[in-house]
Amino acid sequence: MNLSIRTKLNLWYTSLLFVSLIAFGAVFSYSLLKIFIYRMDTQISSVANMMVHTIIRPSGEIFLPRDFDIILGRFFGVRTAGNFIQVLDPHGEIVARSSNLEDFRLPLTKGTYHAAIGGATTYEVVRNVGRYPARVVTKPIMLGDKGLVMIVQVGSSLEGMDEIFHSMAYILVSGIFASVLVAAAVGSFLAKKALKPVATITEAARRIKVENLNERIPAAGPQDEIGRLTATMNEMIERLEKSFKQIRQFTADASHELKTPLTILKGEMEIALRTKGDTAYMREVLASSLEEIDRMSYIVRSLLDLAKMDVEKGATAREKVSLDRVLAERHDQLKRRALDSGIQLDIIENEPLVITGDLVRISQLVFNLIDNAIKYTPGGGKVELSLKAEGGNAVLSVRDTGVGIACEDLPYIFDRFYRVDKVRTRDVHGAGLGLSICKEIVLAHGGAIEVESEPGKGSRFIVSFPLAGDRGLGRQAFA
Ligand SMILES: Nc1ncnc2c1ncn2[C@@H]1O[C@H](COP(=O)(O)OP(=O)(O)OP(=O)(O)O)[C@@H](O)[C@H]1O
Ligand SMILES: [Mg+2]
Repeated sequence: MNLSIRTKLNLWYTSLLFVSLIAFGAVFSYSLLKIFIYRMDTQISSVANMMVHTIIRPSGEIFLPRDFDIILGRFFGVRTAGNFIQVLDPHGEIVARSSNLEDFRLPLTKGTYHAAIGGATTYEVVRNVGRYPARVVTKPIMLGDKGLVMIVQVGSSLEGMDEIFHSMAYILVSGIFASVLVAAAVGSFLAKKALKPVATITEAARRIKVENLNERIPAAGPQDEIGRLTATMNEMIERLEKSFKQIRQFTADASHELKTPLTILKGEMEIALRTKGDTAYMREVLASSLEEIDRMSYIVRSLLDLAKMDVEKGATAREKVSLDRVLAERHDQLKRRALDSGIQLDIIENEPLVITGDLVRISQLVFNLIDNAIKYTPGGGKVELSLKAEGGNAVLSVRDTGVGIACEDLPYIFDRFYRVDKVRTRDVHGAGLGLSICKEIVLAHGGAIEVESEPGKGSRFIVSFPLAGDRGLGRQAFA
């Protein structure tokens, strides 16, 4: 059954209230009954004792008073009507009784009679004396060697108590029902009031769609559970808005980056078509077109790599990778290009270190960092590579004496399609994807990447990975 929280709350606490009131009523009535009976037993027991002392004279003689009503009057005052005395012989036959018993007799059950023979006093409730039940004490009179000589029974009608208990039960039951009804009504109202903000939040949350992610749930009221829920939901919407903005920006950037080489390609081809017979020019156009195609295929490849890593979410291949070997291979691969650009590319330290991960991705990371260092270092500069172990991590450093990165650009260089100087990097064929791929690779391997840079003097990219077999904690720093 799909009950609302309000109904469930209401049902729970009204049931709880009902059960507690019933329990209270039962305990209360039972205690009251016990007190009544105790008081009554004390009273009838005093009369019975008095009777025993009246019947047995100090001399040991037996004397039966004729009028019990005087004795009754002495104990019960004017209300003698519901109080009875009955005296029986040792065989259980009535020998005398108070006049108000008329034709009735106080019953003497077998059990009570046997108890009396044994000298025991019995208290019980009997039913067939008049309209109301009565509390009766049966007390034996034992006399030395004679044993049981008389049995005294004193009874008191429970008429008053019966009435009190009936009225009390009536008051209790109607009181309990009235309280539960009032509590249910008030509770329902209070629950509705307390849950009203939830309805408002639900309504507001329903209104928020991709198109109006800039809207927020109105946070009225104190910072209670509801207030905190509203704040948390607003934070979530803010994060969603940010993600959507990033995705939109990314799509726009990607389209733009692909559109530019396509436009250039188209333009060059159109001119080439109109130009007749110039083979040298045609070759030039083809070479330039090939360059643009290379550029486009680089972007598409990079985007695919990023998309793949987004899907994998860190679930990279876990093989042993000799980082020193990767560094040496990339150094050999790029040394020629560095020399062509007039840059000295050196490995100044290369400790043999093994990490766990994906060889292809690690090679890509090292390539991207050295590639950047060469790209952004003017001729005559230096690029130094080093690899060493430091506190359970393999630390790779790529230092250059290049153009450096301004402080305000540092936080963004790992963002997709971010380039510091768009015009200049267009000349050196940068799409702004290399470092974002590096960041994803580092994160997927539980490592960290940092950058230190001074414009005009150079930059240093430091990557650290936990060494294989050493479960060092991953750090993350995008300085
Ligand atoms: N070693 C460096 N020295 C100076 N600037 C750098 C260095 N490395 C990166 N940058 C700056 O950070 C930007 C982002 O680098 P990233 O590698 O992501 O893109 P890219 O090199 O321009 O293009 P891609 O790597 O996709 O070919 C670069 O455009 C460049 O401005
Ligand atoms: Mg790059």
